[in-house]
Amino acid sequence: MTAEELRKKYIKFFKEKGHQEIASASLVPENDPTTLFITAGMHPLVPYLMGEKHPKGKRLVSVQKCVRTVDIEDVGDSTHNTFFEMLGNWSLGDYFKQDSIKWSWEFLTDKKWLNISPEKIKVTVFEGDKDASRDDESVKIWQKCFKKSKISFEVYDNKKKNNKTARIFPLPKKDNWWGPAGETGPCGPDTEIFIDLGKPVNFEKCPNNNNCKPGCNCGRYIEIWNNVFMEYNRKFKIPNSEFQINSKSQIQNNKKYKYIALSQKNVDTGMGLERTLAILNGFDNVYEIELFKLIIQKIEHLTIRTLMHFETEEKEEYENSGTKYKDNPKAFRIIADHIRTSVFMISDGVIPSNLGRGYVLRRLIRRAIRYAKMIKIEESHFTFLIAKEIIKIYKDVYPELEKNRDFIQDCLVKEEHKFCQTLERGLKELKKIYGTVIRGVDPENLSKDMVIQNNIMRADGKKIFHIYETYGFPIEMSQEIMKEWGIAFDEETIEEAKKAFKEHQELSRTASVGMFKGGLADAGEQATKYHTATHLLLGSLRRILGNHIYQKGSNINADRLRFDFSHSEKLSEDEKQKIEYLVNKQIQKKLPINSEEMSLEKAKQLGAIGVFDSKYGDKVKVYTIGNPDNVFSREICNGPHVKNTSELGKFKIRKEQSSSAGVRRIKAILE
Ligand code: SER
Repeated sequence: MTAEELRKKYIKFFKEKGHQEIASASLVPENDPTTLFITAGMHPLVPYLMGEKHPKGKRLVSVQKCVRTVDIEDVGDSTHNTFFEMLGNWSLGDYFKQDSIKWSWEFLTDKKWLNISPEKIKVTVFEGDKDASRDDESVKIWQKCFKKSKISFEVYDNKKKNNKTARIFPLPKKDNWWGPAGETGPCGPDTEIFIDLGKPVNFEKCPNNNNCKPGCNCGRYIEIWNNVFMEYNRKFKIPNSEFQINSKSQIQNNKKYKYIALSQKNVDTGMGLERTLAILNGFDNVYEIELFKLIIQKIEHLTIRTLMHFETEEKEEYENSGTKYKDNPKAFRIIADHIRTSVFMISDGVIPSNLGRGYVLRRLIRRAIRYAKMIKIEESHFTFLIAKEIIKIYKDVYPELEKNRDFIQDCLVKEEHKFCQTLERGLKELKKIYGTVIRGVDPENLSKDMVIQNNIMRADGKKIFHIYETYGFPIEMSQEIMKEWGIAFDEETIEEAKKAFKEHQELSRTASVGMFKGGLADAGEQATKYHTATHLLLGSLRRILGNHIYQKGSNINADRLRFDFSHSEKLSEDEKQKIEYLVNKQIQKKLPINSEEMSLEKAKQLGAIGVFDSKYGDKVKVYTIGNPDNVFSREICNGPHVKNTSELGKFKIRKEQSSSAGVRRIKAILE
């Protein structure tokens, strides 16, 4: 089956079940600075899952472009991609578990649709805990489906350990619960559908030698579909508790959420196109599917073109150099995956930079280039030669790629050119540092033994940082090269690099303070005030309107603040007045503002607000407004802020308007 057939079948099936097709949203979330990319089909639908009316009705189906880069290091194995297409169907307060499961079963196993042998399918359900009971309803529905198909329908029993015969596996919240996207909001148990390959792909990763359950890391079970039953709203146990932490016991209480039944019960499902295609075609890895095959062929073609430049005797050397797909599949897969993701990102308006989305894109392009060097692709602009193939493959489904072809080309070529220069200089420097240790040996040919003999066991973080600072040579790339050379890049190296980074930051801050004294510094001060006012505004909105309020966007300049937040209705005059009053009251109270660095875990325990975990590293900065015994606002934020609220002046709302579906916008000034 081809990708095109699968997309069409999925859409057709759900249209026959009364769904309306919606187009894929951009990879860049609208009005949501808290997350870099769209990571699931449900993501653009959040307002509608919360109760907003969707113009196309209550049953929707789509193929959504998604990017997930948390597993970037795993790309190159059999199932991980940084970009994927998610096939999804939704019920916004319409059908629920019964139809959702029944239809999944029909679509997967019916001859007319995917015709997967029922025997190969295993499912997981939520096992239940103190917040919500075991999902027996789903168990029963699945059993009915299995009985009808005349296959076993046993539920896994921990005591009997009957995993050989069981087909339904109850698992805890960490496996079978999805959402909420932020700290509070719609969420629920899910049931996940796996294909059982019958044996591990990677035996070493299988603890009991093949005696495993879905969720095992050995690759035996491939998850292809996830049906989420969003029947709960997760709330804090104590209303507004994230602002009212006075005692230790309250901090502990605050850790506990409560799960309230939603009035609108939704279904959110997601099926990975690439994985499902691989399964349907009997492949044990996603790179065999036709979408990737063509890209990989193109990459092989580029290495062969390089070969043509060689003289005959060099050709032989090349033949043995391990630069064909079968010799080094990981490199080919990484190049194919990363360029594909880059093409889609650029087409949605992301450009390479050192910040946020742009940095993710830059990292992908640069990683692809490095791996291309490894398999000896010499062509300059090879990224665009591969991109051209990708555009050809996808242009009928995603016409924006064709439309943005010139922009994509321009971005890739520029970045490739820039990075090749960086790479050359940085690599030369690395070789100089580590190459001089062993005279005459090209570090690329260093063996582990030589490294040990010469006592260069560890990379020096300070030097690594220096190469980054001087040549822009990415630290993670040094790390990868060190690994190849057999030089450890350990905790200590990272600490040293971080320390060097901090010193560098301080130096440049001092320099820029000197430089910008005067007009710019004043503008900066005003912006800082508005930033603090934004925190007071969010705290007040949550108190007056409720805990469903999250930041959806923020824009500050020296003249005003602009703040977008999740809320469906226009604010009344009374609400606006109350909000202004509450903000001004905090200003009058002359509250101190303090910041502290802590683990994300600790920040969450303290009830600090922030929306999507994925944006944050392990350590976060938390700004608290108020006294320890009476905290008004606590947010994960990088600052800067004023020292005391008394510096702000008088807060005034200038405008309140709609920003997009389910999002309101406030413009406010400080007088
Ligand atoms: N949101 C769920 C997921 O991403 C189902 O679509 O798996």
